[in-house]
Amino acid sequence: MGTSEAVLQILCGAGPRLFYSNPCFSKSNSRCAFEFHFKCSRRRASSCSQFLKRSSMLQYGVRGIGSGFLRNAKIDPSCLQHCKCQRDESVGGITSEDGVGTWFVDNAKKLNPINGMVNASNILEFQELKQENEVMTFNGTNGALGDTTFHKVSIDSIEDEAWELLRESMVYYCGSPIGTIAAKDPTSSNTLNYDQVFIRDFIPSGIAFLLKGEYEIVRNFILHTLQLQSWEKTMDCHSPGQGLMPASFKVRTVPLDGDDYATEEVLDPDFGEAAIGRVAPVDSGLWWIILLRAYGKCSGDLSVQERVDVQTGIKMILKLCIADGFDMFPTLLVTDGSCMIDRRMGIHGHPLEIQALFYSALLCAREMLAPEDGSADLLRALNNRLVALSFHIREYYWIDSKKLNEIYRYKTEEYSYDAVNKFNIYPDQISPWLVEWIPNKGGYLIGNLQPAHMDFRFFSLGNLWSVVSSLATADQSHAILDLIEAKWVDLVADMPFKICYPALEGREWQIITGSDPKNTPWSYHNAGSWPTLLWQFTVACIKMNRPEIAARAVEIAEKRVSKDNWPEYYDTKRGRFIGKQARLFQTWSIAGYLVAKLLLADPNKAKILVTEEDSELVNAFSCMISANPRRKRGRKDLKQTYIV
Ligand code: GLC
Repeated sequence: MGTSEAVLQILCGAGPRLFYSNPCFSKSNSRCAFEFHFKCSRRRASSCSQFLKRSSMLQYGVRGIGSGFLRNAKIDPSCLQHCKCQRDESVGGITSEDGVGTWFVDNAKKLNPINGMVNASNILEFQELKQENEVMTFNGTNGALGDTTFHKVSIDSIEDEAWELLRESMVYYCGSPIGTIAAKDPTSSNTLNYDQVFIRDFIPSGIAFLLKGEYEIVRNFILHTLQLQSWEKTMDCHSPGQGLMPASFKVRTVPLDGDDYATEEVLDPDFGEAAIGRVAPVDSGLWWIILLRAYGKCSGDLSVQERVDVQTGIKMILKLCIADGFDMFPTLLVTDGSCMIDRRMGIHGHPLEIQALFYSALLCAREMLAPEDGSADLLRALNNRLVALSFHIREYYWIDSKKLNEIYRYKTEEYSYDAVNKFNIYPDQISPWLVEWIPNKGGYLIGNLQPAHMDFRFFSLGNLWSVVSSLATADQSHAILDLIEAKWVDLVADMPFKICYPALEGREWQIITGSDPKNTPWSYHNAGSWPTLLWQFTVACIKMNRPEIAARAVEIAEKRVSKDNWPEYYDTKRGRFIGKQARLFQTWSIAGYLVAKLLLADPNKAKILVTEEDSELVNAFSCMISANPRRKRGRKDLKQTYIV
């Protein structure tokens, strides 16, 4: 069915009832096919055992479908062949003995970098090399080679180092790469959960590998995390919806039950039930869908997305997101801390980041869902949601100086169908900082919208991904980049990119964060600067054909990020200090930089991440715009029968 028909459905309030016609969605048979269900056991000679029992150390089982799971389990012969156990603690990387600043790299690689393949046996102390290069770059006095050459050598060595670190961060399961660890910081004694593979953190790693033509790790990641989706998870006897993807997982080597000499590897996921604050990772499944599409586009291997279990996995995520609830808005309603900002920061409700990822995942899923009878309802619902969501965000989240002035003059307490101030926003909530800050040229999407509440903070990831996914219109997307250019000293400053702007301070910080000492003003999530955001920024700039803006930011990052040992985040208004509690050797800082570099070198590749708006959606959207009461105020004959 076309999108305009879908819009009609919205107009008539005839939303389809989803899923239950599809056997894949019945609770008793939620996964149509299973593959890849293995644990690996080692007993002097390695072997791979089929995953038939619940590990006692895990809190999970297969929800209500245990028997189905076992019945359907298949042994993949390739796994049997390759499955060698490897203790996760033995996976290569920095050990505490290595200490900071004793990274090694092949000397030959510095002068003649060959795609970053690391040969650990042929080494030279890298830190010294780095310092040498810096001296050369800053003095630029070597007679034989000019400044540019030395600058290039230095940049090349940063990229080589980044590749080396990225490879060191790889985590193996049954001998195959399956993800990258969040951070390998030898200076931090308290690892917390930074020794896990985070779904969201792996995305830039996965993209970097894809762009390098190394597809295996991404394929494994996609398929193994898919497995975890169907595990039962509970917190105090309550289970979240099936289809939830974990925030992170760890490969653990555990003794094999009943055998003193054997060990096995198990995947131990965290769905939020162990995470600080017990936050549900709503973004994980959305990122998973986005990565799945990127994998297919980049590798040309569509067989992964076509698998029955993968198709079911996509549908399960969508089911969780599209399920009917109490909402009046098409945006996803989530709790605080459900995305990259995974602590209390006052972003509960309808935060922009989740909406942008949601929109992007819907578009990606639509592209990948196999046309079959069972998915017609789902596709219809998906189209409806896409239209309603883009309308809602473009209309109500958008702010520029003109719109701000409109809000400033809003009438309130309008009880009617055609209210201008639909959400009853009191103009007094326009913060003084915003009146000064909003530039004449440019605009952005606000952080959140609720009844009587607009969160005017600028959240970078949400805005950048709205550009990438075409949730923002082309004009809005350009305006977002205009604003970033106009507010460069606030958003990029000494280290790209501020996670949000401005910081919550004083009483507001106390109330909204719960006096969180990690989120003090201009630190961490509270307006800290995160190098990983460089990659999303780069994709957005490339999409709008303005890559030079991203290149400027990369150049700024390059001056420090390697020298500072790839911190997780920076503090202070201008991002001058390495963050108070920032991990060093944070993998997504490393991968984010690499993705930015790779894409700037070959902007065409950004297509694997970008989604363009299709013409059907544009038509449907303009139908809704022209029926918008804001523009029709005073026309008494207009009957509004739809809800947005
Ligand atoms: C922090 C970040 C989160 C990230 C995790 C691992 O909790 O807020 O976004 O996934 O660290 O790096």
